[in-house]
This record gives sequence, C-alpha cells and structure tokens, in this order.
Amino acid sequence: SAAEKGGYDYFMLKEIAEQPKAVADTLLGRIDPSGSLTLDEVRISPSELREVDKVVIVACGTAFHAGLIAKYAIEHWTRIPCEVELASEFRYRDPILDGRSLVIAISQSGETMDTLMALRHAREQGSKVLAICNTNGSTIPRESDAVLYTHAGPEVAVASTKAFLTQLVACYLVALYLGQVRGTKWGDEVHAVIKDLSRISHEVERVLETMEPVRALARSLATKNTVLFLGRHVGYPVALEGALKLKELAYMHAEGFAAGELKHGPIALIEEDLPVVVVVPSPRGRSLLHDKIVSNIQEIRARGARTIVIAEEGDETVVPYADHLIRIPVTPTLLQPLVATVPLQVFACELATARGNEVDQPRNLAKSVTVE
Ligand code: AGP
Repeated sequence: SAAEKGGYDYFMLKEIAEQPKAVADTLLGRIDPSGSLTLDEVRISPSELREVDKVVIVACGTAFHAGLIAKYAIEHWTRIPCEVELASEFRYRDPILDGRSLVIAISQSGETMDTLMALRHAREQGSKVLAICNTNGSTIPRESDAVLYTHAGPEVAVASTKAFLTQLVACYLVALYLGQVRGTKWGDEVHAVIKDLSRISHEVERVLETMEPVRALARSLATKNTVLFLGRHVGYPVALEGALKLKELAYMHAEGFAAGELKHGPIALIEEDLPVVVVVPSPRGRSLLHDKIVSNIQEIRARGARTIVIAEEGDETVVPYADHLIRIPVTPTLLQPLVATVPLQVFACELATARGNEVDQPRNLAKSVTVE
C-alpha cells in the first residue's frame, strides 16, 4: 500500500532514501568514543582471529559486489590475503580451506541457497564462518559461527540498495576490527577512517539531495540499448553494481569493466553516442590511478562515447571531458563506494520508470533465491 511505501511511489525509492539512516544504524554502538570498535556479536575469539591466515568471502549478486570492495579494505588494513568468490562457484572447485581460514558469507536475506551451500562446505572443511546478514534469525546466520547484522531494516524491492550500503559498512567494520585485534596497520590512517566512517551517513544524505540532474539524465537515455560502466580499484565493483542495477531494473544491456581492461578489448564497443558511466577515484592519494582513468575518459570520448562522469567535489581535471558530471563528496579512497553507488541506484530506478518497467518487482526475478 501507499502507506507502507512511506509516500514514495516504489519501495525502491523509499529504500534509497533510507540509506543515510541505514548506514548510521549499522554503525550504531559499534564504534566507541575513543575510536575503537566493539563487535561483541562476533563470537569468534580474538585469539582465533589472530590465527586467521586467509579470508574468503562468498556471496551472490549485489552482496558479491560488496565482497569485492571488502577485499580492498581487508587486505589494505589487515594484510591478510583475501579472496572473493561467487557462492555458486565456490564449492565446485575444491577450494583450499582449513581451520585458519575465515569465511565471510554476505547475504541480505540470509536464505540464498548458493551462499548457504558455500558456507556449509566451508564449515565441513573446519573453517570459521562469519555471516554479514540483514535478516534476523535467518538460515545463513543460524548456520554460521558468528554474525554481524546489518541494520538496514526490511528491504522489499527486489533490487538491493540500502542492504548493499550497510553490507559495505559491515565489511569495513570487520576489516577494521581484524586490524584492531591483530594490531596491524592500527595507526593514524585507521583512526581517520573510523572518524570518516562515523560521518559518512551525512555524505550519503548530501548525495541524495543532488539527484535531480541524474534523474533527468536517466530519462533522456530511456531509448538507449546499452550503457557501459567503468571503474578502477574500489570503483570497479561499483561499476559492476551500476551495471547489475540497470540490467535488473531497466532490462538494458549493461556491463561493468575495470577501466584498465578497456584497451584489452572492450574499447571496441565504443561508438557514437554510447553512454559510458565512469567512476573516478579521488585525485588525492592514489593519484596515478586518477590520471589513468582521466586518460581513459579522453580515449572513449575521442571515439564518440557520451561520458557520464562521477567524480569527487573539487576534481577539476575531469571537467573538460565530461558530457555529464555527477559530483560526490570527498571521502577516503576505500569508502568512496558508499557515496559513488547512490547515483547509480537512482539512475537505474529512474530509467526503469521511464521505460515503464515494474520497479519493485522486475520480471523473472525473486527477492531471495532459495534454489541452487
Ligand atoms: C540485487 O539487486 C539482486 N536482486 C541480487 O543480486 C541479490 O543481491 C542476490 O540474489 C543476493 O541476495 P542475498 O543478499 O539475499 O543473499
């Protein structure tokens, strides 16, 4: 009913709008005023966590994209090697697991069969499993050794939005917690990141306030057949997520690429007026990556692409090459997906509406996939 949708036309719009609160709720009570983390729910002891020599993340769809981003954070902040695998592929390739592997299963519903079978396989090999889940008491957390709940509240729309942002927050918390427990890289950078994380819901709010031009752009592309998405580093999974949202909602051909791979094939796809969304990393810090992606934007634009550039406020180098410029707030590199994904959700939702599609119930899809 309209009341359930809180005055919005679709659950998806309501859930997009709820993201600042969902992000804040997922952080609530988990960062103490001194800047250290208390994750009491993680019932895997600090001594066991100190023994971990490999992290393996299993998940599907949007949750898998959260896992891809988590890898960057876990490896950077903890120096523990981390693999990310599609849950549906995991157990069929005889993965190398033992008692020192920590397996993280990410799932909004907690009922995804592929993810459940992957975690069962991991536990059979003696690995500890930590679930990151949004649904209290669902099967995946019940069968795991520990669970960190995301507090996104119920997500009704089939296309995942607020669950994704809170999965990212939970992944960052796990990465930082592992770092804290193991004493690795626990320096100024980590404290600064924790501070930024506790402010991030305001930044998500600011992004939401500036989405009207994104909606107008989406409407203007309603008759296109293809949209490509490019990113690097954590922007690469963001590109994959932008493409998945567009497939699910707009039923358009959409693909995400690592921008560095363009020259190895995908650049052949570029033609006159093809919309290409580019997620630009911050010009601070990893500035080499920034410069490389700016050259990618120039290359595709020279071949006729219509460039839709998502870039940090104050990044002026991209301006001459952006046919459409979407600004996002300045964040630490690893946290950028929390703000960069939001315009892509709004973009896909508006395109679906413009194409007359059912936003909350896309064709052929179910909210939770309980078959393998
Ligand atoms: C996302 O928009 C999808 N509908 C889908 O990819 C989803 O993320 C995937 O099926 C995993 O679901 P889960 O998080 O409930 O396990």
